[in-house]
Amino acid sequence: MSLIISKMDFSKKILDWYEENRRELPWRTTKDPYRIWLSEIILQQTRVAQGTPYYNKFIEHYPTVHALAEANEDQVLKLWQGLGYYTRARNLHATARKVANERNGKFPKDYEGLIKLKGIGDYTASAMASICFDEPEPVVDGNVLRVLARYFGITMPINSSGAAKYYKNLAREIMDRHNVRDYNQGIMEFGAIQCTPKSPNCQSCPLQNGCEALSKKIVSELPIKIRKGRIRKRYFNYLVGIDANNNTRLVQRSKDDIWKRLYEFPLLESESELASGQIIPKCKDLLEVNEIGAVYENNSSAVVHKLSHQQLHTKFWIVETTDRFESGIPVEQLEEYPVPVPIADFIKTFKNSYF
Ligand code: ADE
Repeated sequence: MSLIISKMDFSKKILDWYEENRRELPWRTTKDPYRIWLSEIILQQTRVAQGTPYYNKFIEHYPTVHALAEANEDQVLKLWQGLGYYTRARNLHATARKVANERNGKFPKDYEGLIKLKGIGDYTASAMASICFDEPEPVVDGNVLRVLARYFGITMPINSSGAAKYYKNLAREIMDRHNVRDYNQGIMEFGAIQCTPKSPNCQSCPLQNGCEALSKKIVSELPIKIRKGRIRKRYFNYLVGIDANNNTRLVQRSKDDIWKRLYEFPLLESESELASGQIIPKCKDLLEVNEIGAVYENNSSAVVHKLSHQQLHTKFWIVETTDRFESGIPVEQLEEYPVPVPIADFIKTFKNSYF
């Protein structure tokens, strides 16, 4: 079979499969660039099942780009809470403001214009250009990389230098230029449902005839990814101050680090787990009080929270003081603040157990 026929065969089979198997999702009934943009930014973060409630919440609160532009950043971060990679939420908000205020609410109508916006990279620009404006621009996400690597038997690691360009070129050659909207969504959906990372359903796969990986029995080995770097272990000791009014204290993270602009209890970060004798001398400074009373270790073994390249070992210390915090926060109001997931989990149990 010539290469050209095999490529046409590939895109036709993807389109036929999509027609049969596509999920009805809230953003699949629109071409509104605002909605497509929002869905694609959320879906870079998470699978469809976990992402859909976030999409619905955002649309309910902010039905238009103008509404999102008018929100304050804390509200946006609060709605994003739990999705991770909070830079995406801050960029989402910044771009909404730019589009609303400087472009009269209109997104650019092509890839070149879209990719100039903050937080919109090759993937999102391609998805928006093809889905909203029928521009023949192929999308390459993790699902697409997996499908291509397997079908064409490509052993080039997907995160090696040059891989992005190589896979994008291949994706461009094989896409259906006349129905790129469905083709792009079809190949992503195919990766998510049929050609899954673990136990793909090769027995009933419409692409089984041409699939190199299947014929060479290397499906489970592809795609190849180079392991990069070690997981960094960090030790977070949170000081949960309780003052004379039963108020507590949160601070906003400001450094270029994880969770930028989310709120947290005053933090003592260390190279290893600390004992109470190492915590107590730091409490006054960190909580900005003159006196401290009892200090309790809330969880004797650290809670481990895994991020993509970090492992956080987190302990919460309850620190009582007879002082009054400046801008103290009543414990019942803690849930209004955007906080990282381990802190949200702590707040849920703490509210019920301490008082
Ligand atoms: N994953 C991310 N965006 C998608 C889309 N539009 N269709 C299918 N899967 C996706």
